[in-house]
Amino acid sequence: MVFHILTLFPEMMEAALSASITGRAMEKGLVQIDAVNIRDHTKSRHKKVDDYTYGGGAGMLMQAQPVYDAYLCVAQRLEKPARVVYMTPQGSTFTQKKAEELAAEEELILLCGHYEGIDERVLEEIVTDEISIGDYVLTGGELPAMVVIDTVSRLIPGVLGNGVSADTDSFMDGLLEYPQYSRPEEWRGKSVPDVLLSGDHAKVDRWRRYQSLMRTRDRRPDLYEQYLRDHPEAADWEEKWKKEFPENK
Ligand code: ADE
Repeated sequence: MVFHILTLFPEMMEAALSASITGRAMEKGLVQIDAVNIRDHTKSRHKKVDDYTYGGGAGMLMQAQPVYDAYLCVAQRLEKPARVVYMTPQGSTFTQKKAEELAAEEELILLCGHYEGIDERVLEEIVTDEISIGDYVLTGGELPAMVVIDTVSRLIPGVLGNGVSADTDSFMDGLLEYPQYSRPEEWRGKSVPDVLLSGDHAKVDRWRRYQSLMRTRDRRPDLYEQYLRDHPEAADWEEKWKKEFPENK
């Protein structure tokens, strides 16, 4: 998958994404990062990319021309049109579902804004999706774009190590992940839950499901309600599992 990133800070993207799992995915050729510097496409003699806003108000706005020309530079190289995702607090909130949808694309163009935003006219012209990573305002779209790239990349087959699958993670089935334990069996007086040492795999699966359900109910009632709407049969699970795991053990 190729991520084309239109940004004023290409070095920031390359530095962060070349580490760890995304770095390895790039080495393996599963993920490609093409960071395009919007400033390289300005027709201004002084390499300017921003200007005052019409109608007044504080702050500067990124101008349409350099953004559009940076976009054209990428779009003209593509065999078929790609989605253009603008990172903005005004977009729809990024979710695992949206990540899955984007992971099905072969190429994506991510547009990172700065200052007070980007001239609306170029957004109307090129943007297909607007994504926010949460209800807070960052200084630019680079960190949000990295969040999207990281989340989408780990869904691409082969990016996570052999045998590791993304589908037991939190959110893949609409529930939060169950608690996990590694050695030793006892640490600072705390024991690993008995069921995990029982060797009864079906029982372990039920316990994990129960933990996921209870965690989601307590921590994310919004997700829990949605899960019950999608899986009405889950309403009975709680009672059943409370009997099987009375001490939560
Ligand atoms: N740019 C600034 N803040 C943002 C946010 N919360 N999400 C996406 N892009 C942004």
